[in-house]
Amino acid sequence: MFEHVKAFPGDPILSLNEDFQVDPRANKVNLSIGIYFNADGKLPVMAAVHDAEHALAREIRPRPYLPMAGLPDYRDAVHQLVFGNACSVRTRQRIATLQTLGGSGALKVGADFLRRTLPNAQVWISDPSWENHRVVFERAGFIVNTYPYYDIATGGLRFAAMLDALHAIPNRHIVLLHACCHNPTGVDLDRNQWREVISLIEKKELLPFVDMAYQGFGTDLDDDAFAVRELAARGISCLVANSFSKNFALYGERCGGLSVVCQSDEEAMRVLGQLSGTVRSNYSNPPTYGAKVVHTVLRTPVLRTLWQTELASMCRRISAMRHAMYKQLQGRISDEIVSHYIQQRGMFTYTGLNTAQVDRLRTEHGVYLVRSGRMCVAGLNEQNISIVADAIARVLSR
Ligand code: LMR
Repeated sequence: MFEHVKAFPGDPILSLNEDFQVDPRANKVNLSIGIYFNADGKLPVMAAVHDAEHALAREIRPRPYLPMAGLPDYRDAVHQLVFGNACSVRTRQRIATLQTLGGSGALKVGADFLRRTLPNAQVWISDPSWENHRVVFERAGFIVNTYPYYDIATGGLRFAAMLDALHAIPNRHIVLLHACCHNPTGVDLDRNQWREVISLIEKKELLPFVDMAYQGFGTDLDDDAFAVRELAARGISCLVANSFSKNFALYGERCGGLSVVCQSDEEAMRVLGQLSGTVRSNYSNPPTYGAKVVHTVLRTPVLRTLWQTELASMCRRISAMRHAMYKQLQGRISDEIVSHYIQQRGMFTYTGLNTAQVDRLRTEHGVYLVRSGRMCVAGLNEQNISIVADAIARVLSR
């Protein structure tokens, strides 16, 4: 039956993370997967999450199936966090939001829905993009193309080329955008650039699918959602995938959401129904626990404040590590490349290292980066930063 099955070549991020776990070297450093580690190199349990879990443990309840679209209170909380308090009631009613298995689950449910709804559309992702974007959309049956994004020469954005490419995309095609903390480059659009892109999208009748996996890791929860809220306020049909893996450090609970901005409340009801049907045919309905934790934090003012404070401090730690890395490498590697650390933002930096150099970092120094040259800056700390900087300087010197 399975003689013809080919070996899985592995996933560029998850398989690397698994390799790291079994690497016996004591001073190995994991800067591959997009996970926030604290100053001690540990995966944190956020204080608000801890308190919410204790509160939930005091009232153990029966566990029926959730609705296909997920826990209603959680869906409201997702909606509020993604679209903000200023979202008008009229706009709010035109948005269908459902609970998903993390941000990846939202992409998958959205991709399946779109494949049936817009069978002639193709998908356009940034060059480069998160490796799994292509996989998710291709496996849903789409042709996936790229638009220019990252400028190797400057470590910044190829904005003019991006606009030209968006201009040439046929109408009713799907454009995948990163709301903030672009994965893998750490290069984001500023507000004026977003406004220009959104106007073009509106004019060209493109369908934006916004991936917001890092809300709170750029500037703050509201600023990071600027593009999403601008699209919704302008009444542009779009999809938004959001995730609580990173900003709640709840990676293993698979808490995410998919929101679809529609043209009327009646259309939103139909879309929600079709999305629920997509969930039913994939995994029936989502799990309860993580959604309850997230909802408890977001609806309890004291926990919400605690969560936001801790998230902001995580963000500051990442920024401090960027500056520390910059200092460590200044004068040892080229100015253009060293500037990436402070120019880019969010969890990731595109180091400019090529595949061979990344491989040497791993094999010779036990420092793990994704082979594209992406470094998860959130894995750096005071103890490992000089090991990493020395390894990079050595690899780049020959
Ligand atoms: C990453 O980009 O490293 C994370 O989003 C984890 C993943 O699923 O790839």
